[in-house]
Amino acid sequence: MDFDRLKEECLTCQRCELCRTRQHVVFGDGAKNSEVLLIGEAPGANEDEQGLPFVGRSGALLDSYLHVIGLSREKNVYIANTIKCRPPQNRDPLPAEREACLPWLRQQFKLLSPKIVVCLGRIAAQQIIRPDFQVTKEHGTFIEKDGVLFMGTFHPAALLRNPSQKPIAFEDFAALQEKIKQVCDHTY
Ligand code: URA
Repeated sequence: MDFDRLKEECLTCQRCELCRTRQHVVFGDGAKNSEVLLIGEAPGANEDEQGLPFVGRSGALLDSYLHVIGLSREKNVYIANTIKCRPPQNRDPLPAEREACLPWLRQQFKLLSPKIVVCLGRIAAQQIIRPDFQVTKEHGTFIEKDGVLFMGTFHPAALLRNPSQKPIAFEDFAALQEKIKQVCDHTY
C-alpha cells in the first residue's frame, strides 16, 4: 500500500454516517516524505468544501506559525485530522466516528513514519497522546512513544478565539523547531 493508493481508497470511505453529509473527504495535505506530522481535530466547512485540511482562518494562522519555523506543506510537513469528514455543525466527533476513522490515520502514520507528531488541540491530543491530556498544562512537552516524539499544543481556532494565548502557543512552535534540529535528518 502506498500513499496514493491509500488516499484513493479513503476518498470513497463509507465507514461512518459522516459520508452522507460530507462534500469531500479531507484525507490530508503535505509532503509525503515529511518527518513532522500535524494532527488536527476534524474538517470544518472550508475544509469540507475544498477537500484540504486547515484552509480557513485557523489554517492561515497555522501556516503562518509553520512558515516562521521553516515548515511548509509543500516541503516538509504533513497535516491530517483525527477524522476525515466534517461533523455536521462542527460538533465534536462521536466516539464511533473516531473509531471508524482511526485506521486511516494509522495507515498514514505508518507510511509517513514521522519522527515528530504535533497534536493540535484537546481532541487530537487526547486521542493520540493520552485520554486525560490537558493542553493548558502539558502543551509544548515532548513525550516519546516507540521512538516517536509527540507534543500537544493549542488548536489554532482556540487561538483565534483567545488571542492572549498566541505567544504561549508560539513558544511551542519554537520548541518544535529546536526539536526538529535535534532529531530530524532533512535540512530545514
Ligand atoms: N480544524 C481542524 O481541526 N482541522 C481542520 O482541518 C480545520 C479546522
